[in-house]
Amino acid sequence: MAKKITVIGAGNVGATTALRLLEKGLGDVVLVDIIEGLAKGKALDMTQSSPLWGYNSEIIGTCNYEDTKDSDLIIITSGIPRKPGMSREDLVKVNAEIVKSVVEQAVKESPNAIIIVVSNPLDVMTYLAYKTSRFSKEKVMGMAGVLDTVRFRMFLSQELNVSVENIHTCVVGSHGDTMVPLLSHTTVAGIPITEVISRERLNSIVQRTKDGGAEIVGLLKTGSAFYAPAAAVCEMAEAILLDKKKILPCTALCQGQYGVRDTFVGVPVKLGANGVKEIVEFKLTPDELTALRKSAEAVKELCCIVDNMGI
Ligand code: APR
Repeated sequence: MAKKITVIGAGNVGATTALRLLEKGLGDVVLVDIIEGLAKGKALDMTQSSPLWGYNSEIIGTCNYEDTKDSDLIIITSGIPRKPGMSREDLVKVNAEIVKSVVEQAVKESPNAIIIVVSNPLDVMTYLAYKTSRFSKEKVMGMAGVLDTVRFRMFLSQELNVSVENIHTCVVGSHGDTMVPLLSHTTVAGIPITEVISRERLNSIVQRTKDGGAEIVGLLKTGSAFYAPAAAVCEMAEAILLDKKKILPCTALCQGQYGVRDTFVGVPVKLGANGVKEIVEFKLTPDELTALRKSAEAVKELCCIVDNMGI
C-alpha cells in the first residue's frame, strides 16, 4: 500500500516538497493549508502534470484534517517565512501559535505518524511539535542540518571546482548563526579539507554557509529559500519511508549525546522506518564540541520564549 504523506503549508516550501515527493514516488500526498483554494489549486495543478511527468501517486489539497487521517509522515511547513532584517528569533512568537495549532489537529488524525518540522526557527518549532504531539522522541525531528550541509558542500565544490559528490561533510548545531560546520569531518575525495583550502578561505566559506538563508532572503525580498529546503526534507522523507538507515544531520532530542541534555539541536542521526534510530556520536575536536554545546544553549534560551508563552 502506498505511504500517505501530509504536507502542512502549501506555500513555497510545502508545495515544492509535495511536488518532489510525488516525482520521487514516495507516496500519496495530502497538501493542507489554512487557505483552502491554495492547497486545492496547487494540488490540482500538480495532478495535471502527472501524465507528462509520469508519476502515479495521488495528491489532494485540503483544509480539512480528516483528509490527513492515518498519515505515515507529517511534514510541517506552515508559518511565515523570515523577512529581510528579521531574525529567526523574531519568528518564534508568530510561528509557535501556527505550529502548535497544526500539530494538534494533525496528530489527532494520525497518532502513529512521524513528524518532520521545517517551520522556523527550526529547532524551537521542533521542540514545540514534540511537546504538543506528546509523541516519542524518535518520531519528531526537524529539517535543517541536511540543508546547511548541502549548502556547505556546494560552496566547497565551487571553491575547488570538483563535483559536489566528492565533498563529504556534516553541519551540526542549531539552524542559525551558531551552526557548526564540522571541518574535522570534511573531505574532498577522502582528503581532509584543511589540506586543500586555506584556513582563511575556509572561514569565509563557513560564514557564507551560516548566512546561506539570509543571502537568499536578501535577494528574494519577499520570501525565503524553498528549492533546497524542499530537496532536503525529501532526503529525510526518503530515508524514513524506505527505511534506509541513512545517517543525516537532523534536529533531534539530545539526552546526553555530545554532552547536550534535553534539547533539540542538529546532530547526525540514523534515520529509518521508525524515525530516529539513533543519534550518532562523531568524534569532534574540543572546539567543535564547545561550539555545538553553545549552539544547544542558544536553542534552550529560545525554547524558554515558547514555554513562557504558555501555549
Ligand atoms: N495552517 C495551515 N497553513 C498555514 C497556517 C495554518 N495555521 N498558517 C499559515 N499557513 C500557510 C500559509 O497560508 C502559507 O501558504 O503556510 C504557508 C507558508 O508558505 P510561505 O508563506 O510560502 O512560506 P514558505 O517559504 O513555504 O516557508 C514556510 O518554512 O523554511 C521555513 O522559514 C520558513 O517558517 C517558514 C516555513
